[in-house]
Amino acid sequence: MSDTEQSKPETGHAERHDGRWAPIHGQPYRSVPYRPARMAAAESLAHAAELRERMDQRRTVRQFSTDPVPPQVVRDAIACAATAPSGAHQQPWTFVLVQDPDIRRRIREAAEHEEQISYDGRLGEEWLAALRPLGTDEVKPHLTDAPALIVVFQQRYWLGDDGTKHKHYYVDESVGIAVGMLLSALHLSGLAALVHTPSPMRFLSEVLGRPENEKAFAVVPVGYPAPDCEVPDLVRKSLDQVLVEV
Ligand SMILES: Cc1cc2nc3c(=O)[nH]c(=O)nc-3n(C[C@H](O)[C@H](O)[C@H](O)COP(=O)(O)O)c2cc1C
Repeated sequence: MSDTEQSKPETGHAERHDGRWAPIHGQPYRSVPYRPARMAAAESLAHAAELRERMDQRRTVRQFSTDPVPPQVVRDAIACAATAPSGAHQQPWTFVLVQDPDIRRRIREAAEHEEQISYDGRLGEEWLAALRPLGTDEVKPHLTDAPALIVVFQQRYWLGDDGTKHKHYYVDESVGIAVGMLLSALHLSGLAALVHTPSPMRFLSEVLGRPENEKAFAVVPVGYPAPDCEVPDLVRKSLDQVLVEV
């Protein structure tokens, strides 16, 4: 690396016009023109209707084929997720793409250990009753069958060069939106996924060696559904039930 080149910092920084990275925190307002071409209403309607139908076909998959997926499709989906809006543009997320079978095995072992305790009573009867229609239990073969796991971490704060902790704002909301965009991108690219939240998730930081400002948010196994895959028979609320127009 030459004297003038910098490696990309973890977070809280933006690339300046001269190609260097600087903390965005506290920088003055600057703007650039934004003039996307306006879509004709008819085209817009057609896109919206098609997208609505395709998104309605997305299902959470828990039985995966072990067939490999093109890693670049997964990387592109992560890149889509990383375009998400975030509180104060702090982009408080890290996506760890795990393909190594040994690391997936260690994640499965640790997750099943936590899930066993959860299903044995930690969750409580009300929570277990909510899960019953999903048919889930403490056995999590998707963690080793799916060829890729995306472990999403939220960055609770970022560290300045002098070690000062700087708060991130609206971290849960920002990372939730990014994961929604990740799921959409994976689905629209032909891959199946699951949001898995084996609580507590501290083991993910240990297995993946993540820094202390990061907290695991979810594990997202990615792959193709197994040939005999089944999903719970669930009904989504209708638009009438979720939309209020005033
Ligand atoms: C925040 C969040 C956490 C979830 N955690 C789990 C989980 O730990 N295990 C699991 O099998 N599914 C989990 N799910 C998947 C939901 O059960 C699933 O999205 C829901 O049943 C609706 O099914 P669908 O995605 O096929 O529409 C989670 C989903 C979300 C959004």
